[in-house]
Amino acid sequence: MTSAPFQLETSRLLFRPWQDEDRSCFAELYANPEVMRYFASPLTRQQSDDGIDHYIGFFERDGFCMMPARLRETGEFIGIIGIQTMRDLVEGLEQPAVEIGWRLLPEAQGKGLATEGARAFLNHGLRNLRLPEIVAITAIRNTPSRRVIEKLGMTHRPELEFDHPRVPHGHPHRRHVLYSLRNPDLGS
Ligand SMILES: CC(C)(COP(=O)(O)OP(=O)(O)OC[C@H]1O[C@@H](n2cnc3c(N)ncnc32)[C@H](O)[C@@H]1OP(=O)(O)O)[C@@H](O)C(=O)NCCC(=O)NCCS
Repeated sequence: MTSAPFQLETSRLLFRPWQDEDRSCFAELYANPEVMRYFASPLTRQQSDDGIDHYIGFFERDGFCMMPARLRETGEFIGIIGIQTMRDLVEGLEQPAVEIGWRLLPEAQGKGLATEGARAFLNHGLRNLRLPEIVAITAIRNTPSRRVIEKLGMTHRPELEFDHPRVPHGHPHRRHVLYSLRNPDLGS
């Protein structure tokens, strides 16, 4: 018996696995300087294609990854939200760690969509996949992203603050904070 293809829905959003047609929307997202204002730099088309390939590989390996977020009503691509196995970035963090993340086109921001989509992925990760913990990382100064993390009820772990190795030394967004949420169904 084959299992149904992955699909996750919220009241306004729909998440389905990556398709080739998503590549150009994804490249636009990662080339947008406003979207990328808390990162070292926007990505080239080749870098964003490599990024999608990584996500597809994660999905095939783990059954979850950062996914394209579409409006249910129109099918329009608005950004990415999801969970993924985190590379060994943070000293002192129990491995393997799973992180939650988000990145939306400017016109989709400020409407509660990141929080809405992220809640669905937290629920999926903790309830369906029974992950022991989900973490979130963001640049210390990324106030909108920190606000989303706080609205999700995640706990700030100041002892795990770190310098992101893929952000150049001296860059204002190199220093990152980490928040976590343990699975309440699995005890401590
Ligand atoms: C982070 C991001 C996904 C948030 O998306 P969003 O759909 O606008 O998020 P929400 O609407 O669910 O919540 C955003 C919260 O941040 C607040 N916020 C936004 N800009 C803010 C600012 N400059 N200062 C303080 N708070 C701010 C909003 O008021 C809202 O909080 P509220 O509900 O208490 O009012 C979006 O800003 C984004 O894509 N940014 C660029 C990419 C990025 O930095 N991604 C995160 C990587 S870790």
